[in-house]
Amino acid sequence: MMDTPTSPPLWELRDIKKSFYGTQALKGVSFTARRGEIHALLGENGSGKSTLIKCLAGVHQPDSGEMLLNGRPVTFHHPMEARAHGVATIFQEFSLVPTLTVAENIFLGRQPRRSTRLIDWDTMRVETARVLQPLEIQLDPEAIVKNLSVAEQQLVEIAKAISLESTLLIMDEPTAALGLAETERLLRLIKRLAAQGKAVVYISHRLDEVFEVADIVTVLKDGNRIATRPIHELKMGDVVKMMVGVDIEQHYPKIHHTNPTPCLEVEGLSTANGVHDVSFTINAGEVFGLGGMVGSGRTEIARALFGLDRWTAGKVRLFGREVQFKSPAEAINNGVGLIPENRKADGLFFNFEAPRNITISRLAEMLRGPFLNPMREMQAGQQYVSKLSITPTALEKSVKFLSGGNQQKVVIARWLFSQARLLILDEPTQGIDVGAKLDVYHVINELTGLGISILLISSDYPELLAMSDRVAVVRDGHILHIAEAGRLNEYELLAIASGAETGSQPPTAAG
Ligand SMILES: Nc1ncnc2c1ncn2[C@@H]1O[C@H](COP(=O)(O)OP(=O)(O)OP(=O)(O)O)[C@@H](O)[C@H]1O
Ligand SMILES: [Mg+2]
Repeated sequence: MMDTPTSPPLWELRDIKKSFYGTQALKGVSFTARRGEIHALLGENGSGKSTLIKCLAGVHQPDSGEMLLNGRPVTFHHPMEARAHGVATIFQEFSLVPTLTVAENIFLGRQPRRSTRLIDWDTMRVETARVLQPLEIQLDPEAIVKNLSVAEQQLVEIAKAISLESTLLIMDEPTAALGLAETERLLRLIKRLAAQGKAVVYISHRLDEVFEVADIVTVLKDGNRIATRPIHELKMGDVVKMMVGVDIEQHYPKIHHTNPTPCLEVEGLSTANGVHDVSFTINAGEVFGLGGMVGSGRTEIARALFGLDRWTAGKVRLFGREVQFKSPAEAINNGVGLIPENRKADGLFFNFEAPRNITISRLAEMLRGPFLNPMREMQAGQQYVSKLSITPTALEKSVKFLSGGNQQKVVIARWLFSQARLLILDEPTQGIDVGAKLDVYHVINELTGLGISILLISSDYPELLAMSDRVAVVRDGHILHIAEAGRLNEYELLAIASGAETGSQPPTAAG
């Protein structure tokens, strides 16, 4: 089913330009998608990837340039038109309706019907199960989407796109919210779909995935196309260099700052929401990593420590003093900050500019009398905008107009500014580019250097092992094992996390 070199590609984009109120997001980008080919679209945050695929998906109309389907020009005025031309898209932002069930979301707008009026619920349930099956997803078709975890919602999103009759499948950061096992399943499925003749466009900041799955790579930078090359001609370092413009030598610049003063001591903590008898200590200046599969209970441990879920048993001491957080406000007042995993929903005030989103955690200091002091807000905001290399236009734009990765950096900046003593980072580098990841790592080093402790949750195992001092492996809400990060490798971590370790005894907790 591969296009032959002489046949026209399924899709050809020629010299696409697109501006938003003065920001030129695409400055003349050409791109092709061929049947049977997985084409990775790479680039830093804000380089124009989502904008390009949104032109193909009928969300945006290019200002100029051509889109050819099988050699014939087409224009789309609406996403439905793109879909009618065989384009199925998984957007970076979720597009599910939170109050509907999994099945209703998958079949939104095309529900099977018994007669002209009656929706055929039985067929819908059976069909949903059939769609979820290749992804090996155990999900109740009747579950309401807003009650699912971020990872599960992402899987529904993927299932929905795959269930559409399509010739082109576009995936914008499909694995950002997924753990290793789900990611592996998805990559296998994508390869299968390509082998069946679909064209696939794949956007990801996880380069190891790209190298596992892609046939060809296009790199964008500042709205320009830097290169399009078959992947076998490239090494990971080449791709990073094209994206960032410089060589990155040191991917994980870890500095150890742990000192022996305990910051947080947790003893036998349980919640009604899936945390069972969890005990550990985090020292001042330590990065304590939580490893585990998606749904293992890592986020629930974070929620408990941040006062979001009620404790049913256990003791927690912060700098030797016993504490009981019944709300996030109490946690924050005691110097605990949480950067949540689901930033889209929990993290940002979409109509504010970046500086206000950053300073909102210490708003009292931004007041002049009863009024906000915009100068002080701007100065504080500016400092973090440059420290985290947030795009400078963030200073004026509402954050809803920033690219996905830049939005993320704004949330991180807010907590850095809040001066917490213990920061919980839930997937802090999800969806941000290599350069921005380095920025986050440097900030982590800087924080721990000040004696601030960090609870790090990451499904990126190399990152977790490299940037933590110690790592705890979580499964089913229990901590199964705690080890010095340097004494654990990715495979051991995965084996314990997935329950696949040999030997009948689970490893004993230590530390
Ligand atoms: N609707 C919009 N209004 C205004 N500006 C926008 C809009 N959409 C995108 N932009 C701007 O266009 C540029 C490209 O953004 P785009 O979302 O395509 O980046 P991206 O490569 O997908 O980045 P990321 O990796 O962070 O998702 C950015 O400067 C962004 O702020
Ligand atoms: Mg994007």
